[in-house]
This record gives sequence, C-alpha cells and structure tokens, in this order.
Amino acid sequence: MQAQNQDAQEFQLTLVLIKPDALKLSLTGYILSQLSETHTGLRFAAAKIVHVSRRLAEQHYAEHRGKPFYTHLINYIMGKSHYPDLPHRRRVIAIVYSGYDAVNTVRRIAGPTNPHEAREKAPGSIRALGTVVPIKDAEGRLISERLDNLIHASATPEEAEREIKLWFTPTDIMPFMRIYPTDYAQEHYYLSEEGLTTSWRPGCYCVVAAGELVWKSDLEALRLWRQGKPTPISLDAVIAKYLINTEQTPAE
Ligand code: CDP
Ligand code: MG
Repeated sequence: MQAQNQDAQEFQLTLVLIKPDALKLSLTGYILSQLSETHTGLRFAAAKIVHVSRRLAEQHYAEHRGKPFYTHLINYIMGKSHYPDLPHRRRVIAIVYSGYDAVNTVRRIAGPTNPHEAREKAPGSIRALGTVVPIKDAEGRLISERLDNLIHASATPEEAEREIKLWFTPTDIMPFMRIYPTDYAQEHYYLSEEGLTTSWRPGCYCVVAAGELVWKSDLEALRLWRQGKPTPISLDAVIAKYLINTEQTPAE
C-alpha cells in the first residue's frame, strides 16, 4: 500500500531513535522540534518508548559487531552507560517518519556521526550537541571512541526497511503508511528458554499468533525455520520486536 498524494518512488519511511543520552540531557523536546512535521514536511507514522533488550541492541547494530567500540555501543543503546544504577530509566524513543525523501531529510537534520565533525561541518544539526567519550584498554591506552550522538537515523531506504521491521510490527504503523509487504500468520510461534517453538507451554512468550498481521519477510523466515531450513534473516531479528517491553532484564 502506498501513501496518498506522494510519488510511490520517492515516498519513504525512516527510523529515528532518540538515544539514552538525549533522554538523560532532556533534549527530547528539542530533537522532536527539529524533526517536527512543519520543519521537515514529514509525518509521524509510528512511535514507542522501548526498554532495549540485548537481543534488539545486537540486531540493530549487527554490522558493527567485532569493532573496538561495539560493546560500548551496545551498553550505550541499552541505556546502561547513562543509567548504570537506574534500569527503569533506560529508554529509547523509537519513531518512524514518513514522506518524500524521508531518509536523507532526517540524516541531514541529524548531522555527521561524530559530534566533533558535526560541530565543525554542520552547526545546528542535532548531533552537534553530542559528546565523544574515549574508550581505553586495560593499560589506559586510547583504543576507540564512543560517539554519544543523541539520535539514530537510518542511512538508506534499505537500512530503513531492515530497521523499521526490527523495531516495529505492522500494526504499530499507521495503515496508510505501511509500505513493506505484510501477511496474516496461520500458525503460532512461542519463545521458550530453549528457543523458538510452535507449541505453548507454561513460561513461554507468544511471538506470533495465528490471525496476526506480520511482516511477510518474518513469516517467510519463521516458515523456513519450521521446515528446518536456513533463514535469510536471523531469528533474533524476527523475534525481538514481538518481545519489546515484555522481557524483564533484571540482571542487565
Ligand atoms: O549512526 P550512523 O549511521 O551515523 O553511524 P554508524 O557508523 O552506523 O555507527 C553507529 C553508531 O555507533 C554511531 O551513531 C555511534 O553512536 C556509534 N559509534 C561509536 O560509538 N564509535 C565509533 N567510533 C563509531 C560509531
Ligand atoms: Mg549507521
């Protein structure tokens, strides 16, 4: 389904995450103003407050696994860096914006990844208000930097699709603004301590129920898994969104 009054080729969705540093610094109002509908010409398509699980964090930043800043980045997006002793404050605000050239429009307002570069090259951008935190090894040598840059913004339409499907279910998004294929599940999937299963038993979370509207790509992956075949996307990427704000992470 395409949004009305827009060229189907140019109509895009994009994901914004207002990261834990922005919440801690009380910059959420400022960021939302910078991204307001009048300012950007974009429209809100979906929004939610998320306590980020490790599963979701690792899937979101899968491309950065193995880099020297990766562990720090995961702790950052999970809110552990900014709220080490206050797990109930660890939140991210996840928003989908829709409209003409949405991906580039939001990236431009966000600014360059590194806050120092943002201050230099894009004063007035959101990330120009960010912080650079040195990462040191056991001997105190600088090995990398954690870039606390206040927001995440999808970099390409392909990345936006992967990320939006990771954070949102189809019904989280306004029906007129859903642009990725969906389908109705005809079977149930649960998560137990041992992993994914198709039959419920006490202690299982319901991932997908029969009759539920789901991303077609998720359903295809789940059906391949059920047949014992390899899946084109990781099962964690399928599962994570259905467990948002359900999993307790007391140890984290
Ligand atoms: O977020 P963006 O797409 O602009 O940049 P990225 O290269 O995909 O990196 C993802 C995130 O990792 C950044 O937004 C930073 O918060 C973080 N990062 C970091 O902490 N240290 C680095 N040296 C590079 C990136
Ligand atoms: Mg990126």
